[in-house]
Amino acid sequence: MSRILVVDDEQSMREWLAIMLRKEGYEVVVADGRGQAAAVLGNETVDMVITDVRLTDGDGIEILRHVKAAAPETIVIVMTAFNTTEYAVAARKLGAEAYVLKPFDVDELRVVVRDAFANSRLREENVILKREVGKLYGLDHVVGTSAVMAALFEMVRAVAPTSSTVLVTGESGTGKELVARAIHGLSGRAERPFVSINCGALPDTLLESELFGHVKGAFTDARQNKKGLFEAAHGGTLFLDEVSETSPPMQVKLLRALQERRIRRLGGTEEIDVDVRVIAATNIPLEDLVHEKRFREDLFYRLQVIPIRTPPLRERREDIRLLAEHFLERFSRRMGKKVERLTEDALVSLERYSWPGNVRELENVVERAVALETSTEVGPDRLPEALGEREGRESATLIGPGFRLDAHLKGVEARLLEEALEAARGDRAEAARLLGVTPRSLRYLVQKHGGLHDKN
Ligand SMILES: Nc1ncnc2c1ncn2[C@@H]1O[C@H](COP(=O)(O)OP(=O)(O)OP(=O)(O)O)[C@@H](O)[C@H]1O
Ligand SMILES: [Mg+2]
Repeated sequence: MSRILVVDDEQSMREWLAIMLRKEGYEVVVADGRGQAAAVLGNETVDMVITDVRLTDGDGIEILRHVKAAAPETIVIVMTAFNTTEYAVAARKLGAEAYVLKPFDVDELRVVVRDAFANSRLREENVILKREVGKLYGLDHVVGTSAVMAALFEMVRAVAPTSSTVLVTGESGTGKELVARAIHGLSGRAERPFVSINCGALPDTLLESELFGHVKGAFTDARQNKKGLFEAAHGGTLFLDEVSETSPPMQVKLLRALQERRIRRLGGTEEIDVDVRVIAATNIPLEDLVHEKRFREDLFYRLQVIPIRTPPLRERREDIRLLAEHFLERFSRRMGKKVERLTEDALVSLERYSWPGNVRELENVVERAVALETSTEVGPDRLPEALGEREGRESATLIGPGFRLDAHLKGVEARLLEEALEAARGDRAEAARLLGVTPRSLRYLVQKHGGLHDKN
């Protein structure tokens, strides 16, 4: 049960809060001012302090300072009847979790208290998890405190100790490989190798010999026996990146290896047992490929024993600040520079952007900004122009001296026309369909734009 200390010099307020909080299931202690509060805090531990700012014998901010110095993990909520920004800012800076204005109603305070506990629990869990990951694999840089990331961490922690096959699905740059490494690092296989291969980067025969190895003479260049990655990863983890890119024959071979946990080197006859945990990753949802008959359903089920999704950055904008600061610190250190922070304006424009390239894109943007920065602070001017544009509305920033609507629209029209013709490979009927115009209108448009680069 969580214990809350309520500090207020008004008796009716103390009583009202005590009744309300007890009803919520908290244990409550009360104090009428600084003196009593100090006495309570000297004798027992509390999880939260809710204190008024103006007290007859002192100041709630003093209590806040006292609590944070003695037991920083204690949550402090400050209440006041005076809506002064200075106080709110000071309270926040000193580590207050929330600042509530009097008068408030029961529901308001109930929500504030509940959220405060939830947030602090989340932070604690993150600290613990980060420490674990860091300890085992040097991955203390898996950043994120959003609810989706907390869920992901929980999932990683839960599946890590098993040897189940995991399929990580997520857009490019969302941290799929990072997740795979974290799973390995937290598993009993951490001391054994983590072997990674990009299935999309190699032609079939090469991929096969990489994965399964070969014997001397198996093909022209096979001058000696060679171990494959399945064998190299024995006892550890094999990370199959971009598994969606494998050809149908390769999929059959992978399926067999996963089912039997045995492999045969290319050109060899011996069956070799392998103890390998497989983690596969894909940018494209495999279900879709299965549906289109481009990926074997049986292999899909073999891989997706445990599905994990890495969320795109735009679904967890609350992590952008943290990530940006994390990368700033890292690149500043690496480049031996003294760039210490991003300005609020810069942070806001980072938070607004849609991040199609996800965390990797953010990482690159911050790296570039740090490299260019000559002062201690990164402002919005160091960020790529694209970030300044509001999503999906480009015209707002175009209007200025010399802007002509007709010329602009003509340009847009020409560009779309070209795009459609290109997508349709010059097939005009198809291009017209893509644009939602009649073939006749298309002919007119092409003429209007001087024929374009029509490939017909
Ligand atoms: N939560 C995170 N915290 C810190 N860094 C992250 C996080 N997620 C991703 N990154 C960083 O972003 C970059 C991209 O991550 P990663 O390579 O794991 O993405 P991916 O999903 O495998 O991308 P792709 O599909 O393009 O291969 C890496 O430098 C990684 O360290
Ligand atoms: Mg990757």
